[in-house]
Amino acid sequence: MDIFKRIAEHRTESEQLSWTGTFKEYVELLRRDPAPAMTAHARVYEMISSHGVEEVNGHKRYKFFEQEIFGLDRAIEKLVEEYFHSAAKRLDVRKRILLLMGPVSGGKSTLVTMLKRGLEQYSRQERGAVYAIKGCPMHEEALHLVPNELRPEVEKALGVRIEGNLCPSCQMRLRTEYNGEIENVLVERVLISEENRIGIGTFSPSDPKSQDIADLTGSIDFSTITEYGSESDPRAYRFDGELNKANRGVMEFQEMLKCDEKFLWNLLSLTQEGNFKAGRFALISADEPSIY
Ligand SMILES: Nc1ncnc2c1ncn2[C@@H]1O[C@H](COP(=O)(O)OP(=O)(O)OP(=O)(O)O)[C@@H](O)[C@H]1O
Ligand SMILES: [Mg+2]
Ligand SMILES: [Zn+2]
Repeated sequence: MDIFKRIAEHRTESEQLSWTGTFKEYVELLRRDPAPAMTAHARVYEMISSHGVEEVNGHKRYKFFEQEIFGLDRAIEKLVEEYFHSAAKRLDVRKRILLLMGPVSGGKSTLVTMLKRGLEQYSRQERGAVYAIKGCPMHEEALHLVPNELRPEVEKALGVRIEGNLCPSCQMRLRTEYNGEIENVLVERVLISEENRIGIGTFSPSDPKSQDIADLTGSIDFSTITEYGSESDPRAYRFDGELNKANRGVMEFQEMLKCDEKFLWNLLSLTQEGNFKAGRFALISADEPSIY
């Protein structure tokens, strides 16, 4: 095997997957196929299903998990059908946190890792493509640009649902860089990648005294705060917490029950309302199944 040839091919492959266009062009793309506008829960479900589903004795078996996990068929069927499938249909179960409980070495971490790797690969396929506002620190869904009053019409025209509000950073850039002209905002295809901190967040609590909420929600950028003069200026804030980065994908929480209470508040609001509070900003929307 020629290693460097493969490396070069891989690079070309990634380049071929890239797409940049205006919001107008993104809407055209959705007109042909609204799939990219699906929620993160739906994307996880579609990813799992895309590997194949078998019916055995009236139960569903998902081939995706068979590569690495054995003997947990019933638990996995419940997880996929009752949680991801229902959540994909926007039923209320998506407002629940997914808590994996089981014996030590029971395959919990293996399962989460599989979901993360699976999403990374799926986002490289056409069916799993994820598009985001270019330059958004949370790589948010570009449909957030549509003003609330127009959403019902746009939803109907495209056959999509629009949930969530534009993040503070994009709100500001829309005004300053795009002069409010939504149609010109640049949109790009993003590839989910834990390494690049796109669509996968992981949090593991340290000891309670040093737990810092900024790890989850981002923090004030002290190097630019004097320049912008205010803590509520989005340019003086780093939207780089795990919850920001996990947007559009999954958020893994390790050992959640060891977490400080103030963290749990954020997580409840994230899961139940689809948003969280950060710095001096209005609630920030996030679309990410949270797995603990
Ligand atoms: N059902 C399973 N099928 C195949 N391998 C498994 C299964 N359960 C566990 N393993 C293997 O056992 C090892 C430990 O599993 P894993 O780390 O996922 O467990 P865990 O539930 O996260 O444990 P802990 O409670 O210690 O965090 C891994 O190497 C994993 O591949
Ligand atoms: Mg584990
Ligand atoms: Zn944004």
